[in-house]
Parts: sequence; structure tokens; C-alpha cells
Amino acid sequence: MSQPRLPRLYNELAYLWPIISPPSNYEDEAEVWRNTIKDKLGQGRHRVLELGVGGGHNLSHLTEDFQATAIDLSPRMLDLSKKLNPGVEHHLGDMRSLRLEETFDAVLIHDAIAYMVTEDDLAATFETAKLHLRAGGLLIIAPDWVRETFRAPMVFHWVRNGKSNGGDIQVTIQEYLHDPDTSDTEIESVFTYTIVEDGQERIEQDTHTTGLFSMATWTRLLEEKGFQVETVRLPLNEGGYSGFLFVAELS
Ligand SMILES: C[S@@+](CC[C@H](N)C(=O)[O-])C[C@H]1O[C@@H](n2cnc3c(N)ncnc32)[C@H](O)[C@@H]1O
Repeated sequence: MSQPRLPRLYNELAYLWPIISPPSNYEDEAEVWRNTIKDKLGQGRHRVLELGVGGGHNLSHLTEDFQATAIDLSPRMLDLSKKLNPGVEHHLGDMRSLRLEETFDAVLIHDAIAYMVTEDDLAATFETAKLHLRAGGLLIIAPDWVRETFRAPMVFHWVRNGKSNGGDIQVTIQEYLHDPDTSDTEIESVFTYTIVEDGQERIEQDTHTTGLFSMATWTRLLEEKGFQVETVRLPLNEGGYSGFLFVAELS
């Protein structure tokens, strides 16, 4: 298992996350997650575990309906989620090796799944999910891309205004998403953040290495762990990412 490498956005630049990708952006998508959980598991305040919760933005729209526990590899992202989701139990952990010794009705993995860059990473994460689910439990995963929807290179760019330490902040984000080596399962996003804070402008760069797998690979790896797999389309998100959910039931 390779050592996890945290991008700067989840380290010293984590304070930018709520500005770059505010919780309100996740409202429509979270509705699909909520409806999917209720359709599959019925009504009730189900116990859910989110792996790679990040700032907890997607989760913040689900805590009214479900009892949540959340983990992340980054202490700073975990702190953001704790502040936003005070009723949620939080733990520091790696989704590939976490062992909480308890089971849940559903395990949720949002875009954090992107940081699984090999089939072994995915298989280890699905094992974690399986060990934390009751029989008949649900695993829901939302990869940003699969091989079939990915076209390289792509450029995304957006501007955000917000508050940081009580002062105004503007962040212009440019993402250059490309595939430096088409023979492996890794792709790369090079982010440039132009930050105007307290009247001062500065530029920061950050590289995120993420995984890319075909639908057939996703399905095979999930089935090998005993899941039955369906896919559900998500509304197009603001950045232009076209996503869907893998909805996997543990037999
Ligand atoms: C894009 S952020 C998630 C944002 C989240 N969906 C939200 O709503 O705020 C990706 C997160 O994945 C986490 N992550 C990356 N690799 C991980 C791993 N192996 N185990 C747990 N978390 C991981 C990062 O620390 C980061 O917080």
C-alpha cells in the first residue's frame, strides 16, 4: 500500500476549501444521496459512515436525516468538518486500512475516492467498507470520472468570493486535468490558486494525483467483495464534472 500523499489543499491551504467549494454547492447532489439511501434502506435514521469526509460539505446536507460517523486522512479537513457537523463522530484514518470495530447501515465515499490510484487501493477500500457494513448494507461511491467519461486535457476555471479570518478573500481557481501516462491508472490535476486576501495577491500551485478506472473495473472489484452494483446519474455539477453514483448492496 503506497504512503498517502496529501495535496496542499488538504494541508496548509485547507482553509480555502469552504471558499472554493462551499457547502451550498452540494445541496442538489445530497438530495440524490438521501433519496438513494431511503429508497434502498427504507425510512429511518440510518447509521452512516463517510470515508474521506473532507470539509463535510456533502455530509452537512444528510445529518438531519441520518446518524453519521466520519473519517479523513487530513487533520485540517477533519477540523473543518467537525466545525460544520458538530453532531457527527469524527476519526482520523485512511479509508484503505480503517478498522472501527462497528458496523453501519451505509458507507458513503464521495469524491475522496479519487485518491485511490491503483486497483489495490480500491480493493482495500471496498474491504474496509464491507467490514463496516451490516448484512444487506449499502455502499455509495461518487467518482468524479471513469475512463469512459474522461477526456484529456480539460481546463476548469472559476472565481469565488468569501470571508477568511473576518476579512474578504477572493480565490480564482484554474484546474488543468490531464493524463501524463495513459498506460497507468493515474491522472493529474494541476491547480493554480490566485488568492487576493487583505488587498494582497499571491499565487499558489498544487498537484493532485488521482485514479481512473473503467466501469468494468469498478464493477468487478465491487463484485469480488460481495457487492451487487447499480449506477445512478447525478445532476451535472457547477464545475462541469459529470458524475454518477455506484450504489452497491452487500449480499
Ligand atoms: C475533495 S475532499 C472531500 C470533500 C468532501 N466531499 C466534502 O463534501 O467536503 C477529498 C478528501 O479525501 C481525503 N483523503 C484522501 N485520501 C484519503 C484516504 N486514503 N483516506 C481517507 N481520506 C482520504 C482528503 O484528505 C480530503 O479531505
